[in-house]
Amino acid sequence: MKIAMIGSGYVGLVSGVCFSDFGHEIVCVDVDTSKVEMLRRGEVPIYEPGLDALMARNVEAGRLSFTDDLAGAVASSDAVFIAVGTPTRRGDGHADLTYVFEAAKQIAHAMDGYTVVVTKSTVPVGTNARVKEIIAEANPNADFDVASNPEFLREGAAIDDFMRPDRVVVGVENERAAEVMAEIYRPLYLRDAPIITTDLASAELTKYAANAFLATKITFINEIAMLAERVGADVKEIARAIGLDGRIGGKFLHAGPGYGGSCFPKDTSALARIGQENAVPMRITETVMSVNDLVKRRMIDKIVDLCDGSVNGKKILVLGVTFKPNTDDMRDAPSLTIVPALVGGGAEVRVVDPEGHREGKKLLPGVSWHEDVYAAADGADAVVILTEWNEFRALDLSRLAGAMKSAKMADLRNIYGPEDAAEGGFASYVSVGR
Ligand code: UGA
Repeated sequence: MKIAMIGSGYVGLVSGVCFSDFGHEIVCVDVDTSKVEMLRRGEVPIYEPGLDALMARNVEAGRLSFTDDLAGAVASSDAVFIAVGTPTRRGDGHADLTYVFEAAKQIAHAMDGYTVVVTKSTVPVGTNARVKEIIAEANPNADFDVASNPEFLREGAAIDDFMRPDRVVVGVENERAAEVMAEIYRPLYLRDAPIITTDLASAELTKYAANAFLATKITFINEIAMLAERVGADVKEIARAIGLDGRIGGKFLHAGPGYGGSCFPKDTSALARIGQENAVPMRITETVMSVNDLVKRRMIDKIVDLCDGSVNGKKILVLGVTFKPNTDDMRDAPSLTIVPALVGGGAEVRVVDPEGHREGKKLLPGVSWHEDVYAAADGADAVVILTEWNEFRALDLSRLAGAMKSAKMADLRNIYGPEDAAEGGFASYVSVGR
């Protein structure tokens, strides 16, 4: 099957590379010519474990190529995936569909023969219907169908999520398009991954429902964590105990500094808007969004309390600023709320993050960047663990405490415990919900 992937960002690139590994012939398209050049040189513009090797293998096999020529790529394809960005529109919380609609128009003019146009970008309910209208208006003779195929990839584990998905969701309007989609995902049928075929609107809403539910689950445990702190309970024990109930499940019950990333904040906000517009307010999702903001702000109070009421003049070492480990993505990371508050409060902030420094240098002015945790801890008044990178999970706490001026730790991912901290010589240790 010949497939064009429009947009070679995170979703487009991972999907394109993985489809080529299924044996399909993929052309990844991007308007950014410098990105296309980079990809052609075999360089991967994002950090995603395993992507470089998989990309190289499929380029080598002649199944994967990169271009800025959308028309050429579309003309020779049986299916065209739209995987361009849908950022939150400034001001109103809506997903910005400019790029999706622009891509649809260009695809309409370029397609040659029956083509299935598949939206992979996360888009509000009704967008695929609109894409269909745009294509039909731009090219009344076009022989095409639209399909919705939301992605459920976690950054840092995207390849595994693509190759071994819990499910694939495909929204279509007829059997002809369903058959093309089935052919594209045939390798997964062979692995017994369930493929759920629905109408367009259900597929579109499934994506928002999944992300909003996960954001709710995290926020629920974060709220229980606040109460646990107040009443002297341990949220880790509670999460474990409720998670063993098969109806609840143990995943996504880790209390922390609030969810971030490129998806949960954007998608909860978009779902809230869709609800308002359809006169069915998403009250739970709206509350989740405001509790998540509160959770992030409480982390600042925690650090200030740890520093005896003021961070002014204090040297604070922050471990991890990306929104989660194994990514260099800083979008909506809790660090973007917490670190500026510390800098604003007069603290001297030092940061160690294995991948976050590239983006972080632009987004977190006024901090210094370091590579070695122990060297960066020299003379520090407090250490804050913000992102649970593996390299922060087994620190030599005695060595760390020994390097610091006052051994205080805010472990905002609960990777250590009060006993570990005390044994390591930390005089003060705070975590989340314990
Ligand atoms: C999320 C979903 O997990 C994917 O299924 C979905 O496809 C993707 O969004 C998307 O819409 O594209 P992602 O944003 O990469 O994936 O990251 P997650 O691993 O889900 O983490 C999101 C945030 O929640 C992070 O800030 C993480 O630290 C936080 N989190 C997660 C917690 O605080 N506690 C948990 O128990 C789990």
